[in-house]
Amino acid sequence: MREGVLHRYAAFLPLTPQTPRISLGEGNTPLVKSRRLGAEIGCEEVYFKLEGCNPTGSFKDRGMVVAVAKALENKARAIICASTGNTSASAAAYGAYAGLTTIVLVPQGNIARGKLAQAIAYGARVVAVQGNFDRALELVRILAQRYPITLVNSVNPYRLEGQKTAAFEIVDGLGDAPDYLCIPVGNAGNITAYWKGFTEYAQAGRATRRPKMLGFQAEGAAPIVRGHPVKDPQTIASAIRIGNPASWQGALRARDESGGRIDTVTDEEILEAYKLLARMEGVFCEPASAASVAGLLKLARQGMDFSGKRVVCVITGTGLKDPDLANQIADIPLHQVPPDLESVEEVVLGLWGR
Ligand code: F0G
Repeated sequence: MREGVLHRYAAFLPLTPQTPRISLGEGNTPLVKSRRLGAEIGCEEVYFKLEGCNPTGSFKDRGMVVAVAKALENKARAIICASTGNTSASAAAYGAYAGLTTIVLVPQGNIARGKLAQAIAYGARVVAVQGNFDRALELVRILAQRYPITLVNSVNPYRLEGQKTAAFEIVDGLGDAPDYLCIPVGNAGNITAYWKGFTEYAQAGRATRRPKMLGFQAEGAAPIVRGHPVKDPQTIASAIRIGNPASWQGALRARDESGGRIDTVTDEEILEAYKLLARMEGVFCEPASAASVAGLLKLARQGMDFSGKRVVCVITGTGLKDPDLANQIADIPLHQVPPDLESVEEVVLGLWGR
């Protein structure tokens, strides 16, 4: 049996004897050491925290399991969220598992196909809002106030409580906190949760220090970097296409208390990192996740010195979430051949480059 975050980190979570210890096997994700990308920027120790290995393919499951367990404890019958896709996939899965009705609001036309497929497969009620994520979040906040339906966006504090366990795992895996944590920033819940996790673990004596937090927003959706909300956020990384993050203050605190920074990466930089991760490291992630590595590469190019440092990049979701993008930018031709040995042999030998 694979235990989930409620079992492994019970002592650090707001659980009571009445909280059902549910799990779909979330957490305990791989921390993989870079073989080539780190070397290119003169850093011997770059690690990737593969959050795409969670049950629904993103880090959201860590927080969703806590939020849904608490919803069950409080006798809720339905849950609701706004989402760029991953939160809705996770809510739909845990809602199904818990026997709750799940309603998700997604920005119409701006959610990756794999994520929508998940919400539908798990039986969620999907509402496509003709507006962006920020508007959808405003709407679910009002609905959850008006009706007895539990809001499971990261404004629900149990979500961040669960998400902070990823920081615990990194410290447990490395023996201490890294020097730097690189992380994509959208609604800013995750950077807030990681900082909380690193802080609590240090306070508990499980780590001797805390990392500098390096958060990255897409250039066309960078309200925190600009210092004001962005009305019409744009980026190829649809998961972080957010103009008015709910956990804005948490992100600023993480940045300032850690002595880190929050910076932008362009869509071109995101796509470059997305390809490099897959082709140099064997890590296929979704574009938003590649923002962490894009940011690391950008800072290294600008002359920031990572030699002798330990860096962890959070890879927040799997590449299978967004199969259309992978196919759209495919720059390696597909070889179509008749099914006879001669034809196949000719093509294969050509590709093999003997
Ligand atoms: N990476 C992925 C793959 C995401 O899905 C998200 C957020 C982020 C990074 C950013 O994390 O919002 O905590 O700063 N996705 C949310 C959603 C907004 O609805 O699935 P954040």
